[in-house]
Amino acid sequence: MAPMMDWTDRHCRYFHRLLAPSALLFTEMVTAEAICYAENPERFFEHHSAEHPLVLQVGGSEPEKLYQAIKLADEFGFSEFNLNVGCPSTRVQSGHFGACLMEKPEVVHDCLFAMKEATEKPVSVKCRIGIDDMDINLGLDHFIQEISKTGITVFYIHARKALLTGLSPKENRSIPPLNYERVYRLAIENPEKTIILNGGLNNKEDIISKQQQFHGVMLGRAAYKTPFILAELHSHATGEPLIEKHTIAKNMANYADNVIERGGNLRQVTRHMLGLFNGETGAKYWRKQLGELARYQPYNSDLIRETAEFCFSKIKRQVA
Ligand SMILES: Cc1cc2nc3c(=O)[nH]c(=O)nc-3n(C[C@H](O)[C@H](O)[C@H](O)COP(=O)(O)O)c2cc1C
Repeated sequence: MAPMMDWTDRHCRYFHRLLAPSALLFTEMVTAEAICYAENPERFFEHHSAEHPLVLQVGGSEPEKLYQAIKLADEFGFSEFNLNVGCPSTRVQSGHFGACLMEKPEVVHDCLFAMKEATEKPVSVKCRIGIDDMDINLGLDHFIQEISKTGITVFYIHARKALLTGLSPKENRSIPPLNYERVYRLAIENPEKTIILNGGLNNKEDIISKQQQFHGVMLGRAAYKTPFILAELHSHATGEPLIEKHTIAKNMANYADNVIERGGNLRQVTRHMLGLFNGETGAKYWRKQLGELARYQPYNSDLIRETAEFCFSKIKRQVA
């Protein structure tokens, strides 16, 4: 699963873990600066042990801060640390990190080197195929070659350019055209590297075929919005029977009990689950109950149990 700010928080990741027991999950990006200057940096690293394997994604362009941030994070059980070189937002650009670093492979090299010095765990990069008028052939090859000198071998590549002026982050996730062939060529020409394809993958058959061409695929929006695809892909990959939505709902209700006990509220959990029934009878009711009603019943996790029961009785009636 791709890192997604405001989406892939710990509650979301717990939900995704139930759907995809062996997928690699990512945190949202945290800046090295925020970690270094926080009074209580542990709060950025908190997660449930069930979320493993889990990658912490960081943003930054100052090797010393990245070193310090990874040192602080290192004892929290993350399986990998990832540097964000793909985010085009103006806030990130003004901090001189994210996608704009694609033009500065020497800076990325030093950042990755510092991160590697701070941990024994694998360090990886998430980037685009280029930015602005950068040549996606020579430019991307040069970028990958330079940063590979640090010894990193894992690259998550969002298969489109980022245009750093004139497009919002949202537009930058859909307007620049996807170019899977370019990422494929990178993978073929660098068989010793682990190249994971990201961007626009939203259909089960297509994802399965891309999984065969690349070392792996990274899924973002489609899997967030239609999360049961994660369960289907897990079942396809492992041959295990498809988990039932009922089991997921029951488990998430128990998880929500825990969140509420610890001072949280129901909506923090349910907001990530709205797409669970997409494509089935009851999908609209599920979304309404868990989206809207959860706001007014913030401590009632039975809302998940009761809504799931209702949706199942509807599905069963339809089948009968
Ligand atoms: C709401 C949202 C937040 C995102 N936040 C991050 C982030 O923190 N770090 C990052 O590397 N990419 C971030 N992305 C980009 C995704 O990780 C992914 O590269 C992009 O959505 C393309 O994949 P998709 O087409 O499967 O969604 C974000 C995307 C969305 C939709």
